Amino acid sequence: MALSESAHGMWSSRLMFILAAAGSAVGLGNIWRFPYVVGDNGGGAFVIVYLLCIFLVGIPIMSSEILLGRLGRQSPINTMKTVASSSGASPGWQIIGWMGAFVGFMILSFYAVIGGWIIAYVFKLGSGDFSGMDSGFSGSTFADFTGNVWSVVGWHSLFLIITIFITARGVSRGLETAVKYLMPALFVMLAVLVIYAATTSGHFVQGLSFMFSLDFESLSWNSVLLAMGQAFFTLSLGMGAIMAYGAYMPKDTSIIGTATTVALLDTTVALMSGLVIFPLVFANGLEISQGPGLMFVTLPVAFGQMAGGQLFGCVFFILVTVAAITSAISLVEPVVAWIVEKLKTTRVNSALILGGAAWLLGLGSAFSTNIWADVHIFAEMTYLDTMDYVSNNLLLPLGGILIAVFSGWVLDKKMRDSEMINDSAYYPVWQVLTRFVAPLAVFTVFILTFVTA
Ligand code: PFF
Repeated sequence: MALSESAHGMWSSRLMFILAAAGSAVGLGNIWRFPYVVGDNGGGAFVIVYLLCIFLVGIPIMSSEILLGRLGRQSPINTMKTVASSSGASPGWQIIGWMGAFVGFMILSFYAVIGGWIIAYVFKLGSGDFSGMDSGFSGSTFADFTGNVWSVVGWHSLFLIITIFITARGVSRGLETAVKYLMPALFVMLAVLVIYAATTSGHFVQGLSFMFSLDFESLSWNSVLLAMGQAFFTLSLGMGAIMAYGAYMPKDTSIIGTATTVALLDTTVALMSGLVIFPLVFANGLEISQGPGLMFVTLPVAFGQMAGGQLFGCVFFILVTVAAITSAISLVEPVVAWIVEKLKTTRVNSALILGGAAWLLGLGSAFSTNIWADVHIFAEMTYLDTMDYVSNNLLLPLGGILIAVFSGWVLDKKMRDSEMINDSAYYPVWQVLTRFVAPLAVFTVFILTFVTA
């Protein structure tokens, strides 16, 4: 039954798929979120749990998503419908697609707000505001900026407009070009920053040991849940983004090999971001567990002090903007593809509908650092924190369990075997991880988090 092409378009090669999937994976999750959740959760032990999740849970689930997407060749909602019915399974498995569409939409709504902060910083750095400034100035600049509701909403809107514009243009035009040139550029700039932090901060070893020292005593089950949530978020898993991209993947490529490559690229970028940020935090006596503001307070100080930092900082934030946009596009893709299939309308219309709705839902996150800063939805969490916590730590892993169980146990064996034909060496390992390790690990972490809370 597997179609060889998708009606929405196709990636032109395996490399293009890797670039697009890496474009989805590498984003704010690596550069903005990874350092601050590691900082909030005490460092080393958290990083180890995160890495275990990437390899034992993330790579198998990413492979499963690609596999299902390539079998169904449609939006995740319809892919699940088709694949479940050809496996003789309940149409109820479509829930994976529905839940994914909903979570993607939730994530997009706050992602665009943080993306807006990033675009604003392109201009702040470019204007030379930070030249020679210290961390006190950087902290107050960030607080003033996020405290101003109009500017936050303005930049948030701009981020969504760009995302919707590119999505409306289609799968390969625009997107492929962006990832082909700009992602490698981001990588090179991060490498330069790692070298800068290593040679000038005087605290590189302290940063390194913070990231890799093993203090499991202080790790709660909630931190383990957060490490797992971060692994799902950073690899774009559990909501159908990679499934949607898998639908446009050429037939004759290895799935597990490709997923592993994408995961390694993503992990390298996250670890590099940590190696830039932590030494700078220690060198400037900054608070390590300051939450979402961490990179916005730390990096401008470094750019302000380095030669050519005005230009370098500005270009760096442009590249982070691109990384964020290539991720945001993948958040939209599952739903846009579905609207096109369902309403038989154009990508332009469906992208507009979705963008408008995400903008509205995102206002709550935009308000969370200013007029709603004191509104706590759940425990001490603001609206932004709540959206982030629920989507990344609960809904993505839940989607992950369902995807693993479906592809490991329910999917017709002949269909699975035929897609995995280019993966013979690692296929048995994938089967064990997908059937047992990944679902049980996620389930156990859920239970232990809530029992010990
Ligand atoms: N992986 C992206 C990041 O690390 O920024 C975020 C993301 C994109 C999450 C797409 C989920 C997703 F489906």
